[in-house]
Amino acid sequence: MPLVWIAGAGTDLGKTYVAAALLRALRQRGLQPDALKPVASGYSRDTAADSDPGRLLAALGRPIDDANLEQICPLRFAAPLSPPLAARMEGRIIAFDSVAGMVRARMAASGRQLLLVETAGGVMSPLTDSDTMLDFMAACPAPVVLIGGSYLGAISHTLTALAVTRAAGLPVAAVALSQSAEPAPPFDETAASLGAFAGNTPVLCFPRDAGADAAADALADAVLHAVGSGLT
Ligand SMILES: Nc1ncnc2c1ncn2[C@@H]1O[C@H](COP(=O)(O)OP(=O)(O)O)[C@@H](O)[C@H]1O
Ligand SMILES: [Mg+2]
Repeated sequence: MPLVWIAGAGTDLGKTYVAAALLRALRQRGLQPDALKPVASGYSRDTAADSDPGRLLAALGRPIDDANLEQICPLRFAAPLSPPLAARMEGRIIAFDSVAGMVRARMAASGRQLLLVETAGGVMSPLTDSDTMLDFMAACPAPVVLIGGSYLGAISHTLTALAVTRAAGLPVAAVALSQSAEPAPPFDETAASLGAFAGNTPVLCFPRDAGADAAADALADAVLHAVGSGLT
């Protein structure tokens, strides 16, 4: 099954927000997507419904129960730190090959049509002590949806993430710009300015608290085009 990465220019910018909206848009087209958040930190079972795995399960229309949480997010750590640091707090070590193997195994599983994998943090956040999220994505090459914000400084952060992602040989299906909370520069102007530097990569705008359906539908088009799977 084709894979699409959900990556961020930084953390807390809207990866899960956009991924959930994209999953809903794909399902609305009658498609059957799957999702994986291989590693989540800052996770608590008490607030699972608000966690990344919980929000992805809700977008997939699946119950938020222990079995589904384990399936969608096998590595969950309590500390709100980068994955290798959060793992170490629990005396654990993240093995790169096993996380990459998790993605490959899910891709090989049948029954679904498109796999979305949400990374943790930003494109160059660590996954292990010696591998970044970019290394992780490069180990399973597939189109990337890059999430950026609109806070002051976001244009540089987003273009930097775009440049390193492309330099790693990964195709960027779209930049999804999720409007940052106030105070932030004007959203439309920020998106237009970013777009002028983004080349052929579409920049799709997710205005804050405005409903994500229209943008998610355009993102679904970009993603299905990028995977070229004939799923449209
Ligand atoms: N466009 C948006 N409109 C409303 N809320 C948003 C938007 N983008 C992000 N958020 C909210 O901001 C917070 C961080 O977003 P989240 O998707 O969890 O980020 P990430 O997955 O990149 O860490 C969440 O509470 C999310 O619901
Ligand atoms: Mg997230």
